[in-house]
Amino acid sequence: MASPISCLSILVIPLLVTSLFYQISNAVDEAFLERICHKSFDYELCLSTLRSDGRTSTADPNGLVLISISINMDLVQTTINRTIPDILKTLTDPLDKTLLTNCQTDFIYVRGNLTQGYVASASKHYQKGITLIYDALLKSAECDSEYSTHPPKKSPISDVTFKVGRLIDITFVIVDEIVSK
Ligand SMILES: *[C@@H]1O[C@H](CO)[C@@H](O)[C@H](O)[C@H]1NC(C)=O
Ligand SMILES: *[C@@H]1O[C@H](CO)[C@@H](O)[C@H](O)[C@H]1NC(C)=O
Repeated sequence: MASPISCLSILVIPLLVTSLFYQISNAVDEAFLERICHKSFDYELCLSTLRSDGRTSTADPNGLVLISISINMDLVQTTINRTIPDILKTLTDPLDKTLLTNCQTDFIYVRGNLTQGYVASASKHYQKGITLIYDALLKSAECDSEYSTHPPKKSPISDVTFKVGRLIDITFVIVDEIVSK
């Protein structure tokens, strides 16, 4: 007589296989990645960013939106927690300190918008997600623009604000690909 365990596996294994197949068949393919990255500002950065994430190979288009936002959230979190505090320790000029502390405040705002944008996008409320992430883009740009009002001061984290903008662009092109269908 078959044990209850093996009866269970007769039912469960096909189910697992089916759901695995379903996941893979909905996963974005290489052609999709290349299509969206061609629409982005930086094809190479777009491809390397998305390919470097282990979740990409099984993600569907919505999952790819979430991956692009979460990579950005990680970058912003590291900037708030590590990059900015490390630089602040080395600064002596009060204006330098003020400017960078203001950037930290901007990035905390950005983190909030990205987090809410992630939540909205996870429930496919893309319009709301885009509005939030666009606000994140404007706010991150304020960091650089505040420095530009104090020439010759230059943001020591302009590479980060640049990357945040590029990652937001990647999010936008994926959402655009989804909603224009
Ligand atoms: C960032 O710093 C905050 C406050 O110090 C801490 O609660 C949080 O766990 C840190 N996050 C990361 C990802 O390091
Ligand atoms: C972005 O975050 C800030 C700070 O939490 C909030 O005031 C603002 O309303 C958010 N943007 C949008 C579009 O909701």
